[in-house]
Amino acid sequence: MRHIAVIGTGYVGLVTGACLAELGNNVVCIDTDEEKVASLQTGAIPFFEPGLQELVSRNQRSDRIRFTVSAHDAIEGAEIVFIAVGTPMGDDGHADLRNVRAAARTIASSLPPGTRKIVVNKSTVPVETGDLVAAIIRKTADSCSVSVVSNPEFLREGSAIADFMRPDRIVIGASDEDAAAIMKDLYAPLLARVFVTEVRTAEMIKYTANAFLATKISFINEIANICSRVGADVRDVVAGAGADSRIGTAFLNPGLGFGGSCFPKDVKALTKIAEAHDIQPTVLNAVLDVNARQIEHAHTILAEKLGGLTGKHIAIFGLAFKPNTDDVRESPAIVLIQRLLRSGAIISAHDPEAIATARQVLSDSVRYVRNCYEAAHEADALVTATDWNEYKQIDLDVVARLMRGRVLLDGRNLYDPEKARRAGFDYAAIGYGDQGLRHDGEVRGRVEA
Ligand SMILES: NC(=O)c1ccc[n+]([C@@H]2O[C@H](COP(=O)([O-])OP(=O)(O)OC[C@H]3O[C@@H](n4cnc5c(N)ncnc54)[C@H](O)[C@@H]3O)[C@@H](O)[C@H]2O)c1
Repeated sequence: MRHIAVIGTGYVGLVTGACLAELGNNVVCIDTDEEKVASLQTGAIPFFEPGLQELVSRNQRSDRIRFTVSAHDAIEGAEIVFIAVGTPMGDDGHADLRNVRAAARTIASSLPPGTRKIVVNKSTVPVETGDLVAAIIRKTADSCSVSVVSNPEFLREGSAIADFMRPDRIVIGASDEDAAAIMKDLYAPLLARVFVTEVRTAEMIKYTANAFLATKISFINEIANICSRVGADVRDVVAGAGADSRIGTAFLNPGLGFGGSCFPKDVKALTKIAEAHDIQPTVLNAVLDVNARQIEHAHTILAEKLGGLTGKHIAIFGLAFKPNTDDVRESPAIVLIQRLLRSGAIISAHDPEAIATARQVLSDSVRYVRNCYEAAHEADALVTATDWNEYKQIDLDVVARLMRGRVLLDGRNLYDPEKARRAGFDYAAIGYGDQGLRHDGEVRGRVEA
């Protein structure tokens, strides 16, 4: 059993704290957000993540996890201190490290003279942030022996607990062998492959992984747009090309583009790191360009099919940036809604979990409904923007009857085009045109990533 402090109780910090407590460690989670901490103390989870409520409650009952705003005591009593604070995109595109610096200062001022501590950076941060954190701590606590380790997190919202508990790999960037050994021991119960690297290399691994996944999404969206024009079916293209073991099909799902709290800001931050070192990030810039254009593409399809957008009522299925989360940060659904609102459209939106978070961004510019069929009522067009399971088998005949118009832009490629057309829809998808009409009973090669 190790004594652990986790600074930041967001998707990463709370999951890290709860999972490490579940493994038998003693964990204190720290946050500056008093409201959040107060709700966590009563056992209420401030965001939606499947399984997290039960995990936190179980470990709270066993006294293995607690929550506080009093950082000092928590840090003083911990052997390992994780930094899991947000690193949003700054105005200039760089990662905004304000929270990381503040966390480092909090750690520094909480260390009694002569103590030994491992500080683990779990936030996604630019190369050299490990050095920055070490320098901030050394300035105030120079009598202490502090090892700063980079341990980037690869969990996905929506399956965060399973991802943490059964990771593809664990990356430990450490220049101190003892600290690396303690970190390996901490994660030993997960039986995962562990890569021990230099701190800067670990920081770079995280950006590389996110940038590559974002690249796959933009790549397949560009291919999808070509498919639409040439009459090919991108679903079969993905299946056929992805059957090559060098390629695979994961993250080759065309749609409205990537969003979320990570890919957009991390790709942008990596372009800034490249530029700062005189490297022109041509591929990364193209990834971001294609992603932005994908929303324009959807906007154009709707405007053309509806003959203009002013006063047109558009129903949106899904607000979260992906299913199984209530996170709407950089959600393509939200970006598309904002674009449609600027063009004079009227929006009704449904999401099983993300209405409260979406309301914080869109306020009352949108009508929110609790039932997806209600969103379709009297709508001129329907857009699937998040691929929640509950949209996959909706009764398209009923939806069509509820609507005033018949435009269906399937932004997540959820429906069979023929079924949609049989229900009377003027159907458009991302990456299949007339070819999508073919239905010869053959099993399609579509693969869910
Ligand atoms: N969300 C993901 O899926 C994911 C996955 C992998 C990595 N990451 C990275 O992990 C980091 C955290 O992401 P997140 O989504 O959990 O963020 P989040 O915004 O959900 O949570 C961050 C928390 O940190 C708290 N905080 C900020 N400054 C603080 C301080 N000085 N002291 C104490 N608490 C402080 C905030 O109040 C907030 O509760 C980011 O760098 C992100 O890029 C996120």
